[in-house]
Amino acid sequence: MYIFILLIFFLKISINIAFPSSENLFNNSNSYGLEIESEYKFGGFDFNGDGIQDFITSHYSTKKTYVFFGDIYIYGDQRPLKVSMIDGINGFSIDINQSDLRNFFICGDLNNDGYDEIIFRMENCQLKIIYGHAGPFKNDFSTFDGNDGFVIDYVNSPLHPWASYQVLCDHNGDGINDLIFNTVDDVYVLYGLNRKKFPTDSGKFDINFVSNGTFGHIMQMKNTINFGCGDLNNDGIDDLVILSNKIGSVNFGLKSFPTQYNPVLNGTNGFTIDIMAYFHEYINQSGFGDFNGDGLIDMAVIGTDLKSIYMIYGKKGGIWESHFDINSGNSSEVVKWVRDISSPQEFCDSMYVGDINGDGLSDISCNVFSKYTWGVYGSTMKLPAVYDLNIKTSPLFGDCRGFILLQTAVTFSAWTDFNYDGIPDLIIQFTNLKSFILFGEKTKISASLNIINSSIGYNSNGEYHFLDSNFNPISSGNCNVQFITFKVLDSIDASDLLSFSSSNSTSSDVVSISNGELQVFNTNRDPNFLQSLSNVLFKTNRDSSIVTVSITYLNIINDTIKIFISHPTINTTSTNPATVTTTTSTPPITATASTGTTTTGTPPITATASTGTPPITATASTGTTTTGTPPITTTAITSTVTTGTTTTRTPPITTTTSTSTATTRTTTTSTVTSTHVQQNNTVNNDCICIRGQICLPNSHICVNQFDVYQGESCFQLSCALGYDCIEQSNQIYKCVKKDSCITCADITCKSPHHCILALTTSQKCKYQPTCSN
Ligand SMILES: *[C@@H]1O[C@H](CO)[C@@H](O)[C@H](O)[C@H]1NC(C)=O
Ligand SMILES: *[C@@H]1O[C@H](CO)[C@@H](O)[C@H](O)[C@H]1NC(C)=O
Ligand SMILES: *[C@@H]1O[C@H](CO)[C@@H](O)[C@H](O)[C@H]1NC(C)=O
Ligand SMILES: *[C@@H]1O[C@H](CO)[C@@H](O)[C@H](O)[C@H]1NC(C)=O
Ligand SMILES: *[C@@H]1O[C@H](CO)[C@@H](O)[C@H](O)[C@H]1NC(C)=O
Ligand SMILES: *[C@@H]1O[C@H](CO)[C@@H](O)[C@H](O)[C@H]1NC(C)=O
Ligand SMILES: *[C@@H]1O[C@H](CO)[C@@H](O)[C@H](O)[C@H]1NC(C)=O
Ligand SMILES: *[C@@H]1O[C@H](CO)[C@@H](O)[C@H](O)[C@H]1NC(C)=O
Ligand SMILES: *[C@@H]1O[C@H](CO)[C@@H](O)[C@H](O)[C@H]1NC(C)=O
Ligand SMILES: *[C@@H]1O[C@H](CO)[C@@H](O)[C@H](O)[C@H]1NC(C)=O
Ligand SMILES: *[C@@H]1O[C@H](CO)[C@@H](O)[C@H](O)[C@H]1NC(C)=O
Repeated sequence: MYIFILLIFFLKISINIAFPSSENLFNNSNSYGLEIESEYKFGGFDFNGDGIQDFITSHYSTKKTYVFFGDIYIYGDQRPLKVSMIDGINGFSIDINQSDLRNFFICGDLNNDGYDEIIFRMENCQLKIIYGHAGPFKNDFSTFDGNDGFVIDYVNSPLHPWASYQVLCDHNGDGINDLIFNTVDDVYVLYGLNRKKFPTDSGKFDINFVSNGTFGHIMQMKNTINFGCGDLNNDGIDDLVILSNKIGSVNFGLKSFPTQYNPVLNGTNGFTIDIMAYFHEYINQSGFGDFNGDGLIDMAVIGTDLKSIYMIYGKKGGIWESHFDINSGNSSEVVKWVRDISSPQEFCDSMYVGDINGDGLSDISCNVFSKYTWGVYGSTMKLPAVYDLNIKTSPLFGDCRGFILLQTAVTFSAWTDFNYDGIPDLIIQFTNLKSFILFGEKTKISASLNIINSSIGYNSNGEYHFLDSNFNPISSGNCNVQFITFKVLDSIDASDLLSFSSSNSTSSDVVSISNGELQVFNTNRDPNFLQSLSNVLFKTNRDSSIVTVSITYLNIINDTIKIFISHPTINTTSTNPATVTTTTSTPPITATASTGTTTTGTPPITATASTGTPPITATASTGTTTTGTPPITTTAITSTVTTGTTTTRTPPITTTTSTSTATTRTTTTSTVTSTHVQQNNTVNNDCICIRGQICLPNSHICVNQFDVYQGESCFQLSCALGYDCIEQSNQIYKCVKKDSCITCADITCKSPHHCILALTTSQKCKYQPTCSN
């Protein structure tokens, strides 16, 4: 009956599998081929209002732009998708020469009719808007007559190549998207209309309707380059991110704006931020979503140098400073993601934010111009102030918490749920110019070490193969466990060493972070990786302590193993258990006392005295004696009470207390005791306890696992498997066998009170012992 705490963690987590790692793994069950030299593209919108997402792409060789309605079945399930399949029913082509485009198209519902519009930004200082509708659809669409679509002319100086960005979001809080676009001198906010078409003169909408406040407002801001929008202050109105080559700002949305809105940002109406736009004018430099699962919208923004992403956590009703310090290092406000502090490489040229893996949290994906595309899934795990995505624990490395696709082409990607399974798919081109629609996938991973015994006994050679035949690892799902971290908790001894030698059957990458921390990586994505961990080794020259090793993998595996390293010179096995059994005196603790390490001793005594719980007294009693005095044991046991009380150090303890407790303990206790006495002693920083007892944190007292102890609360984990922690009386706790009822033997009543059984209403136990009045 020693302690054993059997911890079995079996967590199921639903996360996304990474995309196939290389292009030759793409096939009909994980992707659609796309025979298009796709340059500009945009997805995730529904032009024809059928509830299935569509995408739009320009085609390098024809220079035209094509809208493909989802899903593949409307193309007769033929693959790959080609522009020649488009027939005006399953999609349509748009006769706008790609060379005449100034920027990406954007799509979204600007007139609240349930059909998303397509918005083009032209080189000739025009915005062209095509109204979404149910069909029929014209191929080679070219009319902007005010009914099918319309045009907005604006004035721009050809000297300024920028001023070419636009976004759609609800900036005035009326529930309808607004179109925000820039000229060299101003930012135009065109308010969306409710189930109406925009007034035009032969298809031309007069931009003065915006600048005179009829259908919007303007902000006089020169040389703006990049926008983003989302509800960072979580007030239900989208906020506008404006980046120029000098400054960045977040302008909170309002229910109503003056015709000319030029706020001095003071924290109430928005804030400035040390992010400037960089000079790809076509891209998303910011994105919004709930990354950390707190229900609030957060904002990710790419740093000016393209080497970092700042994740600013959204607040509701919180106070914002007029200037937000992105480098404050306060990880509850902002986290800086870096790829490699020393690397000159860019790591995010264009950002997409959305729920890629269907787990309800927003994720981030980035394109790095002509290099790779990566994604990191949102997580409720608290991130450090600086989160390095370059180290091997990075979610990028295929551990199902992100993905990286190498050799993606110059053009940016787009996301759309083309196959209508509820998970966005990635439209992407590789450097070999092949394009695919890769199916996003949601899948499950579960993994457990199923540790058999979380307590490991002393080994004289100081070597502990603590997993060897002590676990039954299982894992399932499409994602393998990609690495595992072993860590010595609490303080590390200079002689400690965690190591792992990979067997020849599996190749693992082993990183020793310190003597007390080791990471083993599943380099070959071996599904039997966990089994191979059996030869992980903890070596130490310590001779007296309990070492706790944690074994973790993200939030999927989280186990601990306690290694009991006893001082070899402390050897209580000589204790004759018979003595104990014969006496009724306070049992197990006496033995403990014998260990005699100089420490502790005094404090527990007081505690013991007051509550009269037997274990504690003993510990204290002989506490002062030095080590290496094994014989003490036997004597100690019999004479416990006396030793304890006579010691000058233990004032309040009276013999009566201890004896009275002792008497209530029946033979049952003594049997338990004898078992304990036979065990080696264990020592930790707080107190010396025999095996079978634990040291209560902070209180320096040893308590019997199956017995009574005092403390602030029940330490459920301190009870053996099959035992429940229950409160016996005020702050006195006991581990009781599950489904068994406590009896008078289990409680202690102070004389002259005695135990009586009282009827209960509980189904389980008819009687409950209580002390008489
Ligand atoms: C498609 O490729 C994946 C690997 O990416 C493979 O698991 C799957 O079996 C393949 N399916 C078919 C039908 O070939
Ligand atoms: C598109 O524009 C380019 C440049 O003006 C021109 O060379 C090309 O012929 C045009 N293509 C079509 C299909 O009109
Ligand atoms: C706003 O501009 C439009 C278009 O020029 C014009 O028709 C309208 O009368 C103007 N409204 C006001 C209040 O100036
Ligand atoms: C911030 O500016 C707004 C006007 O844009 C004003 O209403 C508000 O009172 C100001 N708040 C503070 C704290 O100065
Ligand atoms: C960090 O930010 C949180 C949330 O705004 C705030 O409560 C906390 O005081 C900040 N901590 C420091 C050290 O500034
Ligand atoms: C840019 O962000 C918008 C949301 O503001 C999103 O709809 C769009 O797909 C993103 N574009 C790309 C190319 O990722
Ligand atoms: C757990 O290990 C300890 C120490 O080796 C041993 O004494 C105990 O009997 C084991 N418990 C079980 C349930 O195997
Ligand atoms: C107790 O200590 C002795 C001597 O060091 C050792 O041989 C024995 O294995 C230990 N027992 C346990 C259960 O650790
Ligand atoms: C590992 O290699 C050794 C020596 O080469 C060999 O004896 C042993 O069988 C191999 N083990 C496995 C699991 O392949
Ligand atoms: C692992 O479990 C411990 C104790 O239950 C907890 O404090 C810790 O946060 C957990 N770690 C993870 C990564 O879930
Ligand atoms: C512990 O006690 C046992 C039994 O008396 C004895 O065999 C063993 O040598 C002792 N161990 C040490 C390290 O003294």
